[in-house]
Amino acid sequence: MSEDALREEIIKVLKTVKDPDLNRDIVSLGFVKEMKFDGNNVSFDVELTTPACPVKEQLKNECETKVKAVEGVGNVVVNMTAVVRSTDRDQPVLPGVKNIIAVASGKGGVGKSTVAANLALALHVTGASVGLMDADIYGPSVPQMLGVPIAPPKGGPDNKIYPIEKHGIKLISAAFLAKEGQPLMLRGPMLGGIIQQFLQNVDWGELDYLVIDLPPGTGDVQMTLTQRAPISGAVVVTTPQEVSLIDAEKGVKMFFQVKVPVLGIVENMSYFICDGCDKKHFIFKNGGGKTMAERLNVPFINDIPLITNVAECGDAGTPIVVADPDSPASIAYKELAGKVAAQLSINQAKEDNVETSFEVAWEG
Ligand SMILES: Nc1ncnc2c1ncn2[C@@H]1O[C@H](COP(=O)(O)OP(=O)(O)OP(=O)(O)O)[C@@H](O)[C@H]1O
Ligand SMILES: [Mg+2]
Repeated sequence: MSEDALREEIIKVLKTVKDPDLNRDIVSLGFVKEMKFDGNNVSFDVELTTPACPVKEQLKNECETKVKAVEGVGNVVVNMTAVVRSTDRDQPVLPGVKNIIAVASGKGGVGKSTVAANLALALHVTGASVGLMDADIYGPSVPQMLGVPIAPPKGGPDNKIYPIEKHGIKLISAAFLAKEGQPLMLRGPMLGGIIQQFLQNVDWGELDYLVIDLPPGTGDVQMTLTQRAPISGAVVVTTPQEVSLIDAEKGVKMFFQVKVPVLGIVENMSYFICDGCDKKHFIFKNGGGKTMAERLNVPFINDIPLITNVAECGDAGTPIVVADPDSPASIAYKELAGKVAAQLSINQAKEDNVETSFEVAWEG
């Protein structure tokens, strides 16, 4: 068979490989690139919209199996690559940042910062370039979680501030504005100025994803950021208790009001996995996060177990995704990263009028 005829046959079978999130075949999505022949051996790239794609391996295997079955084809090499797309935004702030993910909660202490740090690191592990902005002005905790000393970040011309790099991601924190161990004492109107500085002066370079750890609640910082930063989507963290769920719902509704898409709800400390027996213990009534997501018509992302190691790793400055990548909590954080990245791609496809398998959560 001629090379052209072989190419045609291969494209024909690749048209039957569907991206389950975008609900379209990978050929018409423009994912198949760089097809090369060496005799009857073939290699090609499949360029996804995120390296964190949860079905990357599944797609690779399907491509390999289907192309190998084409008559006349010898060896098949499928290279999975990714170019992260930008969420369309009308504000010209943070120009090098393709997607901004806000991590929020209604109630304090539910594990937002832990989710934000592990989400950022889990996205980085897949090969994405990632930044983390700790916008919790009064209670910044991300430097501690990443093991970064509290010191003023390096500055440059035009009031530029350069983020600190740790574990492969870039970090800027409100903690860098105060002396170590000292509280940052600010009145409400000053907060807007700090947020504005974070948005305008920090030189992030090129980022696929910027994760923002928000303070709890729906106050000044959240409102300023959601109005001034072109946020691509929000992740709302809750714990299973009713008091947390009630506040998380308010958080979701705040995003509805400011027209920021909710990428999903995470139920943290959903159950306890005991070191001794590996059994799941449901200390609180679990499932509230999922029920709320269904009721508000937003995606439910996943449950994250309560594991003592998560807290220990956070306190020690090496989040669990890095310290113990195969632990059940790390697996849950990686699943979360995959789903968040996929939901952003789904929302972008929706903007481009591509029919997808999910309804996008825009309004309640
Ligand atoms: N899945 C988990 N298992 C065990 N401990 C956890 C888990 N998630 C978070 N923690 C611990 O719970 C405490 C609170 O978490 P974290 O600081 O992330 O919450 P937060 O919502 O950011 O709090 P705040 O509202 O004060 O900013 C921390 O000590 C953290 O290590
Ligand atoms: Mg926090």
